[in-house]
Amino acid sequence: MINVALPKGRLGEKAYETLAAAGFDCPAILEKNRKLTFENPEKGVRYFWVKPSDVSIYVERGAADVGIAGKDILLEYSPDVYELLDLGMGRCRMCVAGPEDFYQDPNKTLRVATKFPHIATRYYDSRSQDIDIIKLNGSIELAPILGLSDVIVDIVETGKTLLENHLAPLETIVDISARFISNKVSYKFKHQEILAMRDALERNLTKKEAAE
Ligand code: PRP
Repeated sequence: MINVALPKGRLGEKAYETLAAAGFDCPAILEKNRKLTFENPEKGVRYFWVKPSDVSIYVERGAADVGIAGKDILLEYSPDVYELLDLGMGRCRMCVAGPEDFYQDPNKTLRVATKFPHIATRYYDSRSQDIDIIKLNGSIELAPILGLSDVIVDIVETGKTLLENHLAPLETIVDISARFISNKVSYKFKHQEILAMRDALERNLTKKEAAE
C-alpha cells in the first residue's frame, strides 16, 4: 500500500484526477463527507487530505510515502525528501510586489511582509540587502496598503488580487509548480511501487501535453 498525502483544495483535487487517470483511482474519495483518509486496496493506494503546507511534513516523517507539494513549500521549508517529478500544474510565481510606483529609500531598511520568510530572506541575502521581515499568515496584500510593510513577497497566480488592491508585481523571484515528492526511506523500501506511480504520472503528463 502506498500512502499519498494530497493538499486540500483545488490543487489537491487536480492532483487526484491526475493520479486517478494514471491508474491510481480511489472512488471513495469522491463521496461528499468529512473523512480524511480513503483507500483502494485493489490499486494499493491510501490517500489523506492535509493542509497544503503540511504535505512535506507528513512525507518527510514517513506518515505518507509520497505526496503532492507546491515548490513554494519545498523552497520555504527545505524538507528532507526526494522531489521526483514536476507535475506542471498549480503554476504561479513567487514575486516581490508593492505599489506600482514603489521607490525604495536607500537610507531605510526595506520592510517585507510575507508567509515565506526563508524564501524572502534568501532572495534579499543574494542581493546583499538587509530587510525587516514581517511574518504574516494570510491576506498579505493588506500589509503595504495599511503601511505595515513597504513590499510583500507572495504567490502571484492570475495577478487579480494585486490588481484589485492597486498593487503590482515588481520582481519575480522564482517560478512555482506542484511536485511529486517521496519519503527517502519509502523510496528505498517501496521503490518499485513509487517509481511505477511516478512513471504513470509522467506518461499521463506527456499524453496531456501531446493533446494540447
Ligand atoms: C494566494 C496569494 C495571493 C493570491 C494570488 O492567496 O497569497 O493572495 O493567492 O492569486 P491571484 O494572483 O490569482 O490573485 P491564498 O488564496 O492562498 O490566500 P491567503 O494567502 O490570503 O491565505
